[in-house]
Amino acid sequence: MTLRSVGILGTGKYVPDRVLTNADLEKMVDTNDEWIVSRTGMKERRIAAPDQATSDLAFHAAQAALRSAGITAEQLDLIIVATITPDMAFPSTACILQDRLGAKKAAAFDLSAACSGFIYGLATANNFIATGMYEYVLVIGADCLSRITDYTDRNTCVLFGDGAGAAVLGAVPEGRGFRSFELGADGSGGELLNLKGGGSRMPASIESVEGRNHYIYMAGSEVFKFAVRIMGNAAEEALKKAGMTKEDINLLIPHQANNRIIQASLSRLNLPEEKCMINLPKYANTSAASIPLALAEAAEEGRMREGDCVVLVGFGGGLTWGASVIIW
Ligand code: UT7
Repeated sequence: MTLRSVGILGTGKYVPDRVLTNADLEKMVDTNDEWIVSRTGMKERRIAAPDQATSDLAFHAAQAALRSAGITAEQLDLIIVATITPDMAFPSTACILQDRLGAKKAAAFDLSAACSGFIYGLATANNFIATGMYEYVLVIGADCLSRITDYTDRNTCVLFGDGAGAAVLGAVPEGRGFRSFELGADGSGGELLNLKGGGSRMPASIESVEGRNHYIYMAGSEVFKFAVRIMGNAAEEALKKAGMTKEDINLLIPHQANNRIIQASLSRLNLPEEKCMINLPKYANTSAASIPLALAEAAEEGRMREGDCVVLVGFGGGLTWGASVIIW
């Protein structure tokens, strides 16, 4: 079977209006702007309005991506929403979105790979289109982390924000689009980053709420060490699979978890900061939304020219990781 080349036809993003600054956080927990900026690079993050859920953020990003791709929702064959904060356990956020967009012929499902979810989603969509099964797939990374963040825990609450990013994928001319994917998981690290309550092992109860089990738990420095190692490894593996080297990279779009992690990836890949998309000072870590938000902003800012080699790379809970090489 001949496989078609697949690429990104359009991108879109959405962030809620409310801004939570480091100064605001200083009033909530024992932290300060100097610590947050020097340890993470973050200055502010966006917080969803009380009546906004993940599908609402995803909806606006999806509409922008459809406009940018020049197709209508009716033309979509599949919608994949990567998220760890679905509107509810079921129906999937992708189904809620399919209805709201009016994407009548689209299949729809959610994908759970935490901050790596968007890259896992791109790889999945790529295969449906490459084989000729589908023409257009909408992939969204969307998360409302403020709903699962413990704003009494200074170790985590300064790190997270809400947002959504989307991409419409379709067939592209030979030699363009996705050149490789590198996906991975190490389930033995699941204890380092998780949310225990509300699932089938620990259903919601008074005890689960009192134990603060419906919030993100993270062993920060362990995740940090993993991230520094895996970002470089995953990007190098994806480049190798694409038959390219780090010298070929025109733009790196990394998961926006911590500026120190990004800087470590840049030194490993011998890249100057100008060749990297960094927007974490504005949005902090938005989990599955982080890479597509950065991708959509890079597109808006005209940072990718036709034929450029763009590398996406991320890591997250699971533990999971993913990287992809794209010829723009
Ligand atoms: O996408 C999901 C993946 N998550 C991540 O990528 C996060 C990865 N980890 C990190 O980014 C970093 O580990 C953190 C930013 C979370 C923490 O930075 P760190 O340099 O690893 O600091 P630490 O955890 O070793 O803590 C150093 C000190 C501690 O105080 P003591 O024990 O040395 O007295 C913390 O209690 O900093 C303290 N601390 C804070 N101080 C002020 C922790 N959080 C804060 C805070 N404000 N918000």
